Amino acid sequence: MNRRNVLKSGLALGGGMLATTPGAAANAITPSEQRFPKDFVWGCATAAYQIEGAAKLDGRGATNWDVFSHTPGKVAGGATGDVACDSYHRYKEDTQLLKNLGVGAYRMSVAWSRIFPEGRGALNQKGVDHYNRVIDNLLENGITPYVTLFHWDLPAALKGGWQSRDTAKAYADYAGFIAHQLSDRVKQFMTVNEITCYTDLSYRIGKFAPGLRLPNKEANQVRHHGVLAHGLGVQAIRAHVGSDVRIGLADNPAIVAPAIETPEHIEAARRATRDINGGILTAIMEGKYIDSYLTAQGAAAPTVREGDMAAIGSKLDFVGVNIYTGLFARADESAKGYKILPHAQGGPIMTVDWLNVEPESLYWAIRHLGDMWNAPQIYITENGCPTTDKLSNGRLDDADRIMYLRNYIGQVQRAVKEGYPVHGYFLWSLLDNFEWADGYATRFGIHYTDYKTQQRIPKLSATWYKEVIARGKLV
Ligand code: FCB
Repeated sequence: MNRRNVLKSGLALGGGMLATTPGAAANAITPSEQRFPKDFVWGCATAAYQIEGAAKLDGRGATNWDVFSHTPGKVAGGATGDVACDSYHRYKEDTQLLKNLGVGAYRMSVAWSRIFPEGRGALNQKGVDHYNRVIDNLLENGITPYVTLFHWDLPAALKGGWQSRDTAKAYADYAGFIAHQLSDRVKQFMTVNEITCYTDLSYRIGKFAPGLRLPNKEANQVRHHGVLAHGLGVQAIRAHVGSDVRIGLADNPAIVAPAIETPEHIEAARRATRDINGGILTAIMEGKYIDSYLTAQGAAAPTVREGDMAAIGSKLDFVGVNIYTGLFARADESAKGYKILPHAQGGPIMTVDWLNVEPESLYWAIRHLGDMWNAPQIYITENGCPTTDKLSNGRLDDADRIMYLRNYIGQVQRAVKEGYPVHGYFLWSLLDNFEWADGYATRFGIHYTDYKTQQRIPKLSATWYKEVIARGKLV
Protein backbone atom coordinates (compact mmCIF):
# COMPACT_ATOMS: atom_id res chain seq x y z
CA MET A 1 0.00 0.00 0.00
CA ASN A 2 1.53 3.31 -0.90
CA ARG A 3 1.33 6.35 1.30
CA ARG A 4 -1.69 7.78 -0.43
CA ASN A 5 -3.67 4.59 -0.01
CA VAL A 6 -2.82 4.38 3.66
CA LEU A 7 -4.33 7.79 4.19
CA LYS A 8 -7.35 7.00 2.04
CA SER A 9 -8.10 3.78 3.88
CA GLY A 10 -8.43 5.67 7.15
CA LEU A 11 -5.76 3.58 8.84
CA ALA A 12 -3.28 6.42 9.18
CA LEU A 13 -1.83 6.07 12.65
CA GLY A 14 -2.83 9.26 14.47
CA GLY A 15 -6.39 9.64 13.23
CA GLY A 16 -7.30 5.97 13.40
CA MET A 17 -6.04 5.53 16.96
CA LEU A 18 -7.74 8.64 18.27
CA ALA A 19 -11.07 7.84 16.80
CA THR A 20 -11.15 4.41 18.43
CA THR A 21 -9.82 5.42 21.85
CA PRO A 22 -12.82 5.55 24.20
CA GLY A 23 -13.51 9.02 25.52
CA ALA A 24 -10.90 10.75 23.38
CA ALA A 25 -13.33 12.21 20.90
CA ALA A 26 -15.68 13.42 23.59
CA ASN A 27 -12.96 15.26 25.51
CA ALA A 28 -11.04 16.78 22.63
CA ILE A 29 -11.82 20.33 21.64
CA THR A 30 -10.50 20.92 18.17
CA PRO A 31 -9.43 24.45 17.27
CA SER A 32 -12.43 24.78 15.02
CA GLU A 33 -14.82 24.26 17.95
CA GLN A 34 -13.12 26.78 20.18
CA ARG A 35 -14.40 30.31 19.91
CA PHE A 36 -12.39 33.51 20.10
CA PRO A 37 -13.55 36.01 22.73
CA LYS A 38 -16.35 38.29 21.50
CA ASP A 39 -14.19 41.39 21.80
CA PHE A 40 -11.23 39.90 19.92
CA VAL A 41 -10.17 42.43 17.26
CA TRP A 42 -10.08 41.11 13.69
CA GLY A 43 -8.46 43.35 11.14
CA CYS A 44 -6.50 43.77 7.94
CA ALA A 45 -3.30 45.74 7.44
CA THR A 46 -1.76 47.89 4.71
CA ALA A 47 0.83 50.67 4.48
CA ALA A 48 0.82 54.04 2.73
CA TYR A 49 3.59 53.61 0.15
CA GLN A 50 2.38 50.14 -0.76
CA ILE A 51 -1.19 51.13 -1.63
CA GLU A 52 -1.70 54.89 -2.00
CA GLY A 53 -0.03 55.92 -5.24
CA ALA A 54 -0.62 59.65 -5.92
CA ALA A 55 3.08 60.09 -5.33
CA LYS A 56 3.17 63.69 -6.50
CA LEU A 57 -0.30 64.78 -5.58
CA ASP A 58 -1.52 67.42 -3.14
CA GLY A 59 1.91 68.48 -2.00
CA ARG A 60 3.34 65.10 -1.00
CA GLY A 61 7.13 65.26 -0.68
CA ALA A 62 9.39 62.63 -2.22
CA THR A 63 10.47 59.71 -0.04
CA ASN A 64 13.45 57.37 0.05
CA TRP A 65 11.26 54.73 -1.61
CA ASP A 66 10.40 57.04 -4.51
CA VAL A 67 14.11 57.59 -5.07
CA PHE A 68 14.98 53.92 -4.64
CA SER A 69 12.20 52.50 -6.82
CA HIS A 70 13.10 54.95 -9.58
CA THR A 71 16.71 53.78 -9.49
CA PRO A 72 17.14 51.11 -12.18
CA GLY A 73 17.79 47.62 -10.86
CA LYS A 74 16.56 48.17 -7.32
CA VAL A 75 12.99 46.85 -7.53
CA ALA A 76 11.84 43.77 -9.46
CA GLY A 77 10.36 44.65 -12.82
CA GLY A 78 11.27 48.32 -12.36
CA ALA A 79 8.09 48.75 -10.31
CA THR A 80 7.44 51.93 -8.32
CA GLY A 81 4.77 53.06 -5.88
CA ASP A 82 3.71 55.95 -8.14
CA VAL A 83 0.26 54.48 -8.65
CA ALA A 84 0.22 51.25 -6.59
CA CYS A 85 -3.42 50.42 -5.74
CA ASP A 86 -4.44 54.05 -6.18
CA SER A 87 -5.92 53.91 -2.69
CA TYR A 88 -5.35 57.64 -2.28
CA HIS A 89 -8.37 58.01 -4.54
CA ARG A 90 -10.06 54.69 -3.88
CA TYR A 91 -9.99 54.62 -0.10
CA LYS A 92 -13.79 54.49 0.08
CA GLU A 93 -13.78 51.37 -2.02
CA ASP A 94 -11.17 49.86 0.30
CA THR A 95 -13.33 50.67 3.30
CA GLN A 96 -16.15 48.76 1.65
CA LEU A 97 -13.87 45.74 1.21
CA LEU A 98 -13.17 45.87 4.93
CA LYS A 99 -16.83 46.26 5.76
CA ASN A 100 -17.77 43.35 3.60
CA LEU A 101 -15.24 41.15 5.39
CA GLY A 102 -16.79 42.14 8.69
CA VAL A 103 -13.48 43.21 10.23
CA GLY A 104 -13.70 45.61 13.13
CA ALA A 105 -10.33 47.24 12.58
CA TYR A 106 -7.96 48.48 9.91
CA ARG A 107 -4.24 48.97 10.39
CA MET A 108 -3.09 51.69 8.00
CA SER A 109 -0.14 54.04 7.90
CA VAL A 110 0.26 57.77 7.47
CA ALA A 111 2.82 59.00 4.93
CA TRP A 112 5.07 61.40 6.83
CA SER A 113 5.93 63.27 3.61
CA ARG A 114 2.28 64.12 2.98
CA ILE A 115 2.23 65.92 6.33
CA PHE A 116 5.71 67.46 6.27
CA PRO A 117 6.97 67.22 2.68
CA GLU A 118 10.50 68.10 3.80
CA GLY A 119 10.32 65.86 6.85
CA ARG A 120 10.19 68.88 9.17
CA GLY A 121 9.23 72.52 8.93
CA ALA A 122 6.42 73.55 6.60
CA LEU A 123 3.14 71.72 7.11
CA ASN A 124 1.11 70.44 4.17
CA GLN A 125 -2.50 70.79 5.35
CA LYS A 126 -3.77 68.82 2.34
CA GLY A 127 -2.05 65.75 3.73
CA VAL A 128 -3.77 66.12 7.09
CA ASP A 129 -7.09 66.66 5.30
CA HIS A 130 -6.61 63.46 3.35
CA TYR A 131 -6.11 61.31 6.44
CA ASN A 132 -9.01 63.04 8.16
CA ARG A 133 -11.22 61.94 5.28
CA VAL A 134 -9.91 58.36 5.34
CA ILE A 135 -10.41 58.07 9.08
CA ASP A 136 -13.87 59.61 9.02
CA ASN A 137 -14.89 57.21 6.30
CA LEU A 138 -13.65 54.21 8.30
CA LEU A 139 -15.48 55.36 11.42
CA GLU A 140 -18.69 56.02 9.49
CA ASN A 141 -18.50 52.40 8.42
CA GLY A 142 -17.90 51.06 11.91
CA ILE A 143 -14.21 50.26 11.41
CA THR A 144 -11.66 51.25 14.05
CA PRO A 145 -8.42 52.68 12.65
CA TYR A 146 -5.09 51.50 14.09
CA VAL A 147 -2.57 53.95 12.72
CA THR A 148 1.14 53.36 12.10
CA LEU A 149 3.05 56.62 11.91
CA PHE A 150 6.06 55.36 10.01
CA HIS A 151 6.04 52.41 7.64
CA TRP A 152 9.41 52.96 5.90
CA ASP A 153 8.55 55.90 3.60
CA LEU A 154 11.09 58.40 4.88
CA PRO A 155 10.97 61.98 3.52
CA ALA A 156 13.87 62.16 1.04
CA ALA A 157 14.71 65.71 2.12
CA LEU A 158 16.00 64.50 5.50
CA LYS A 159 19.76 64.57 4.98
CA GLY A 160 21.52 61.33 5.85
CA GLY A 161 18.27 59.47 6.42
CA TRP A 162 18.53 57.18 9.43
CA GLN A 163 22.30 57.71 9.53
CA SER A 164 21.51 61.04 11.09
CA ARG A 165 20.44 61.22 14.71
CA ASP A 166 18.39 64.30 13.80
CA THR A 167 16.02 62.09 11.82
CA ALA A 168 14.88 60.46 15.08
CA LYS A 169 14.11 63.91 16.46
CA ALA A 170 12.31 64.99 13.26
CA TYR A 171 10.27 61.79 13.43
CA ALA A 172 9.22 62.49 17.02
CA ASP A 173 8.11 66.03 16.11
CA TYR A 174 6.05 64.72 13.22
CA ALA A 175 4.60 61.87 15.31
CA GLY A 176 3.53 64.17 18.13
CA PHE A 177 1.96 66.58 15.66
CA ILE A 178 -0.03 64.09 13.61
CA ALA A 179 -1.11 62.03 16.60
CA HIS A 180 -2.53 65.20 18.13
CA GLN A 181 -4.40 65.99 14.90
CA LEU A 182 -6.00 62.55 14.70
CA SER A 183 -6.38 61.56 18.33
CA ASP A 184 -9.92 62.83 18.75
CA ARG A 185 -10.87 59.84 16.58
CA VAL A 186 -7.85 57.51 16.48
CA LYS A 187 -7.21 55.78 19.79
CA GLN A 188 -4.46 53.37 18.78
CA PHE A 189 -1.13 54.45 17.38
CA MET A 190 1.91 52.43 16.41
CA THR A 191 5.07 54.49 16.32
CA VAL A 192 6.99 52.55 13.67
CA ASN A 193 6.90 49.37 11.64
CA GLU A 194 9.63 46.69 11.69
CA ILE A 195 12.75 48.48 12.84
CA THR A 196 15.19 45.93 11.41
CA CYS A 197 13.76 46.51 7.93
CA TYR A 198 14.21 50.27 7.74
CA THR A 199 17.61 50.05 9.42
CA ASP A 200 19.44 46.73 8.82
CA LEU A 201 17.84 45.71 5.53
CA SER A 202 18.19 49.25 4.24
CA TYR A 203 21.62 50.37 5.50
CA ARG A 204 23.48 47.13 6.23
CA ILE A 205 22.19 44.62 3.67
CA GLY A 206 21.17 47.12 1.01
CA LYS A 207 17.99 45.36 -0.06
CA PHE A 208 15.65 48.23 0.80
CA ALA A 209 15.87 52.01 0.39
CA PRO A 210 18.38 53.62 0.38
CA GLY A 211 20.25 50.40 -0.50
CA LEU A 212 23.45 51.00 1.49
CA ARG A 213 25.92 48.46 2.82
CA LEU A 214 27.51 50.19 5.75
CA PRO A 215 30.12 48.61 8.00
CA ASN A 216 28.96 47.17 11.30
CA LYS A 217 29.63 50.17 13.55
CA GLU A 218 27.75 52.55 11.28
CA ALA A 219 24.93 50.10 10.67
CA ASN A 220 24.54 49.61 14.42
CA GLN A 221 24.33 53.37 14.82
CA VAL A 222 21.57 53.51 12.20
CA ARG A 223 19.75 50.82 14.14
CA HIS A 224 20.14 52.84 17.33
CA HIS A 225 18.61 55.87 15.61
CA GLY A 226 15.75 53.68 14.42
CA VAL A 227 15.06 52.43 17.93
CA LEU A 228 15.53 55.93 19.37
CA ALA A 229 12.94 57.31 16.93
CA HIS A 230 10.43 54.86 18.38
CA GLY A 231 11.27 55.93 21.94
CA LEU A 232 11.20 59.67 21.27
CA GLY A 233 8.01 59.08 19.29
CA VAL A 234 6.29 57.45 22.26
CA GLN A 235 7.21 60.42 24.44
CA ALA A 236 6.09 62.99 21.86
CA ILE A 237 2.78 61.25 21.19
CA ARG A 238 2.05 60.94 24.92
CA ALA A 239 2.72 64.62 25.37
CA HIS A 240 0.17 65.51 22.68
CA VAL A 241 -2.78 63.15 23.23
CA GLY A 242 -5.29 62.33 25.94
CA SER A 243 -5.07 59.42 28.34
CA ASP A 244 -7.61 57.45 26.28
CA VAL A 245 -5.05 56.96 23.50
CA ARG A 246 -2.98 53.77 23.48
CA ILE A 247 0.53 53.67 22.09
CA GLY A 248 2.49 50.70 20.80
CA LEU A 249 4.63 49.69 17.86
CA ALA A 250 4.62 47.01 15.17
CA ASP A 251 7.94 45.23 15.27
CA ASN A 252 9.08 41.98 13.70
CA PRO A 253 11.30 40.26 16.24
CA ALA A 254 12.89 36.97 15.29
CA ILE A 255 10.94 34.42 17.30
CA VAL A 256 12.54 31.25 18.54
CA ALA A 257 10.27 28.36 19.51
CA PRO A 258 11.44 25.39 21.57
CA ALA A 259 11.93 22.23 19.55
CA ILE A 260 10.58 20.31 22.52
CA GLU A 261 8.07 21.85 24.92
CA THR A 262 9.78 21.03 28.19
CA PRO A 263 11.10 23.60 30.70
CA GLU A 264 14.78 23.39 29.66
CA HIS A 265 14.07 23.84 25.96
CA ILE A 266 11.50 26.55 26.60
CA GLU A 267 14.10 28.41 28.65
CA ALA A 268 16.58 27.99 25.78
CA ALA A 269 14.08 29.40 23.28
CA ARG A 270 13.39 32.36 25.56
CA ARG A 271 17.07 33.17 25.95
CA ALA A 272 17.63 32.87 22.22
CA THR A 273 14.73 35.22 21.48
CA ARG A 274 16.04 37.76 23.99
CA ASP A 275 19.59 37.62 22.58
CA ILE A 276 18.73 37.72 18.88
CA ASN A 277 16.58 40.80 19.34
CA GLY A 278 19.13 42.49 21.61
CA GLY A 279 19.57 45.48 19.28
CA ILE A 280 15.88 46.21 18.92
CA LEU A 281 12.86 44.75 20.72
CA THR A 282 14.80 43.55 23.76
CA ALA A 283 16.19 47.08 24.16
CA ILE A 284 12.69 48.54 23.85
CA MET A 285 11.18 46.13 26.37
CA GLU A 286 14.04 46.35 28.88
CA GLY A 287 15.28 49.91 28.34
CA LYS A 288 18.88 48.80 27.88
CA TYR A 289 21.19 47.02 25.49
CA ILE A 290 21.78 43.67 27.18
CA ASP A 291 25.30 42.37 27.82
CA SER A 292 25.17 39.69 25.14
CA TYR A 293 24.43 42.34 22.49
CA LEU A 294 27.13 44.72 23.69
CA THR A 295 29.69 41.92 23.96
CA ALA A 296 28.86 40.57 20.51
CA GLN A 297 29.20 44.02 18.93
CA GLY A 298 32.35 44.98 20.86
CA ALA A 299 33.88 48.16 19.44
CA ALA A 300 31.04 48.37 16.90
CA ALA A 301 28.40 48.84 19.62
CA PRO A 302 26.31 51.96 19.04
CA THR A 303 27.15 55.28 20.65
CA VAL A 304 24.42 56.00 23.15
CA ARG A 305 23.74 59.42 24.68
CA GLU A 306 22.38 60.09 28.10
CA GLY A 307 18.63 59.69 28.19
CA ASP A 308 18.45 57.55 25.03
CA MET A 309 17.78 54.28 26.80
CA ALA A 310 15.11 55.77 29.05
CA ALA A 311 13.32 57.05 25.95
CA ILE A 312 13.74 53.73 24.15
CA GLY A 313 12.31 51.88 27.14
CA SER A 314 9.25 54.17 27.39
CA LYS A 315 6.25 52.30 28.71
CA LEU A 316 3.97 50.96 26.01
CA ASP A 317 0.26 50.26 26.20
CA PHE A 318 0.51 47.41 23.75
CA VAL A 319 3.10 45.53 21.77
CA GLY A 320 2.33 44.66 18.17
CA VAL A 321 4.31 41.97 16.41
CA ASN A 322 4.42 41.08 12.74
CA ILE A 323 4.94 37.35 12.49
CA TYR A 324 5.47 35.44 9.27
CA THR A 325 8.04 32.78 10.09
CA GLY A 326 10.24 31.64 12.96
CA LEU A 327 13.06 29.49 14.21
CA PHE A 328 13.44 26.51 16.50
CA ALA A 329 16.06 26.02 19.20
CA ARG A 330 17.04 23.36 21.67
CA ALA A 331 18.80 23.55 25.01
CA ASP A 332 22.56 23.26 24.77
CA GLU A 333 25.53 22.93 27.12
CA SER A 334 27.27 25.99 25.69
CA ALA A 335 27.53 29.17 27.76
CA LYS A 336 24.62 30.69 25.84
CA GLY A 337 22.48 27.69 26.74
CA TYR A 338 20.81 27.22 23.36
CA LYS A 339 21.38 26.11 19.83
CA ILE A 340 19.34 27.54 16.96
CA LEU A 341 18.33 24.84 14.51
CA PRO A 342 18.30 25.23 10.74
CA HIS A 343 14.96 25.42 8.95
CA ALA A 344 13.66 21.97 8.10
CA GLN A 345 15.11 20.83 4.79
CA GLY A 346 12.26 20.34 2.39
CA GLY A 347 9.86 21.84 4.91
CA PRO A 348 6.97 23.91 3.61
CA ILE A 349 7.87 27.33 2.29
CA MET A 350 5.62 29.88 0.59
CA THR A 351 6.53 31.65 -2.65
CA VAL A 352 9.21 33.95 -1.22
CA ASP A 353 12.50 32.48 -0.03
CA TRP A 354 12.20 33.87 3.51
CA LEU A 355 8.80 32.49 4.31
CA ASN A 356 9.27 29.05 5.84
CA VAL A 357 5.96 27.93 7.28
CA GLU A 358 6.44 27.93 11.08
CA PRO A 359 2.99 28.50 12.60
CA GLU A 360 4.23 27.92 16.14
CA SER A 361 6.24 31.12 15.96
CA LEU A 362 2.96 32.97 16.39
CA TYR A 363 2.13 31.25 19.67
CA TRP A 364 5.70 31.63 20.93
CA ALA A 365 5.83 35.29 20.00
CA ILE A 366 2.84 35.91 22.24
CA ARG A 367 4.11 33.66 24.99
CA HIS A 368 7.62 35.12 25.07
CA LEU A 369 6.20 38.66 25.13
CA GLY A 370 3.96 37.69 28.01
CA ASP A 371 6.37 35.53 30.04
CA MET A 372 9.59 37.39 29.44
CA TRP A 373 8.46 41.01 29.26
CA ASN A 374 5.02 41.07 30.77
CA ALA A 375 3.59 42.87 27.74
CA PRO A 376 0.28 44.37 28.92
CA GLN A 377 -1.54 43.83 25.63
CA ILE A 378 -0.38 42.03 22.53
CA TYR A 379 -1.56 42.33 18.94
CA ILE A 380 -0.52 40.39 15.91
CA THR A 381 -0.15 43.45 13.72
CA GLU A 382 0.74 41.46 10.58
CA ASN A 383 0.54 37.87 9.43
CA GLY A 384 -0.07 36.46 5.98
CA CYS A 385 1.66 34.98 2.97
CA PRO A 386 2.06 35.23 -0.78
CA THR A 387 0.95 32.43 -3.06
CA THR A 388 1.08 31.90 -6.79
CA ASP A 389 -2.07 33.84 -7.48
CA LYS A 390 -3.53 33.37 -10.93
CA LEU A 391 -7.06 34.27 -11.81
CA SER A 392 -8.99 31.52 -13.52
CA ASN A 393 -12.38 32.44 -14.92
CA GLY A 394 -12.50 35.41 -12.60
CA ARG A 395 -11.88 33.28 -9.49
CA LEU A 396 -8.88 32.86 -7.32
CA ASP A 397 -8.99 29.74 -5.19
CA ASP A 398 -6.03 30.26 -2.88
CA ALA A 399 -6.44 27.21 -0.68
CA ASP A 400 -2.71 27.38 0.08
CA ARG A 401 -3.17 30.79 1.71
CA ILE A 402 -6.13 29.46 3.70
CA MET A 403 -3.99 26.53 4.84
CA TYR A 404 -1.29 28.92 6.00
CA LEU A 405 -3.68 31.26 7.79
CA ARG A 406 -5.64 28.50 9.50
CA ASN A 407 -2.45 27.04 10.91
CA TYR A 408 -1.18 30.37 12.18
CA ILE A 409 -4.48 31.60 13.59
CA GLY A 410 -4.82 28.26 15.37
CA GLN A 411 -1.69 29.23 17.29
CA VAL A 412 -3.23 32.55 18.31
CA GLN A 413 -6.14 30.54 19.60
CA ARG A 414 -3.85 28.42 21.72
CA ALA A 415 -2.40 31.57 23.30
CA VAL A 416 -5.88 32.98 23.95
CA LYS A 417 -6.95 29.74 25.57
CA GLU A 418 -3.92 29.77 27.85
CA GLY A 419 -4.80 33.27 29.02
CA TYR A 420 -2.12 35.36 27.29
CA PRO A 421 -3.28 38.94 26.70
CA VAL A 422 -3.52 38.79 22.91
CA HIS A 423 -6.28 41.14 21.80
CA GLY A 424 -6.28 41.16 18.05
CA TYR A 425 -5.02 39.89 14.72
CA PHE A 426 -4.37 41.89 11.54
CA LEU A 427 -4.04 39.98 8.30
CA TRP A 428 -1.45 41.22 5.82
CA SER A 429 -2.87 42.25 3.50
CA LEU A 430 -6.28 43.58 2.60
CA LEU A 431 -5.26 43.60 -1.05
CA ASP A 432 -2.27 42.85 -3.28
CA ASN A 433 0.07 45.83 -3.26
CA PHE A 434 3.59 47.11 -3.88
CA GLU A 435 5.69 44.49 -2.13
CA TRP A 436 8.83 46.62 -1.74
CA ALA A 437 11.87 45.24 -3.60
CA ASP A 438 9.67 42.44 -5.00
CA GLY A 439 7.47 44.94 -6.82
CA TYR A 440 4.01 43.74 -7.85
CA ALA A 441 4.71 40.10 -8.66
CA THR A 442 4.52 38.96 -5.05
CA ARG A 443 0.91 39.09 -3.95
CA PHE A 444 0.02 39.03 -0.24
CA GLY A 445 -3.60 40.20 -0.56
CA ILE A 446 -6.83 38.41 0.22
CA HIS A 447 -8.21 40.59 -2.56
CA TYR A 448 -6.61 40.32 -5.96
CA THR A 449 -5.62 43.70 -7.38
CA ASP A 450 -5.91 43.98 -11.13
CA TYR A 451 -3.32 46.71 -11.63
CA LYS A 452 -4.61 47.56 -15.10
CA THR A 453 -8.16 48.32 -14.05
CA GLN A 454 -7.61 48.72 -10.29
CA GLN A 455 -10.42 46.26 -9.75
CA ARG A 456 -10.23 44.42 -6.43
CA ILE A 457 -11.42 40.81 -6.63
CA PRO A 458 -11.97 38.78 -3.43
CA LYS A 459 -9.91 35.59 -3.32
CA LEU A 460 -11.27 32.45 -1.67
CA SER A 461 -9.23 33.43 1.40
CA ALA A 462 -11.38 36.57 1.75
CA THR A 463 -14.48 34.40 1.89
CA TRP A 464 -12.73 32.20 4.44
CA TYR A 465 -11.64 35.11 6.64
CA LYS A 466 -15.16 36.52 6.58
CA GLU A 467 -16.52 33.21 7.87
CA VAL A 468 -13.89 33.04 10.61
CA ILE A 469 -14.83 36.52 11.79
CA ALA A 470 -18.58 35.97 11.57
CA ARG A 471 -18.39 32.72 13.54
CA GLY A 472 -15.59 33.77 15.87
CA LYS A 473 -13.79 30.49 15.29
CA LEU A 474 -11.69 28.70 12.71
CA VAL A 475 -13.52 27.14 9.80
C1 FCB B 1 6.36 43.10 6.26
C2 FCB B 1 6.07 44.55 5.99
C3 FCB B 1 4.87 44.79 5.11
C4 FCB B 1 4.77 43.76 4.01
C5 FCB B 1 4.90 42.37 4.55
C6 FCB B 1 4.79 41.29 3.53
O1 FCB B 1 7.71 42.95 6.50
O2 FCB B 1 5.83 45.24 7.20
O3 FCB B 1 4.93 46.10 4.64
O4 FCB B 1 5.63 44.03 3.00
O5 FCB B 1 6.12 42.23 5.22
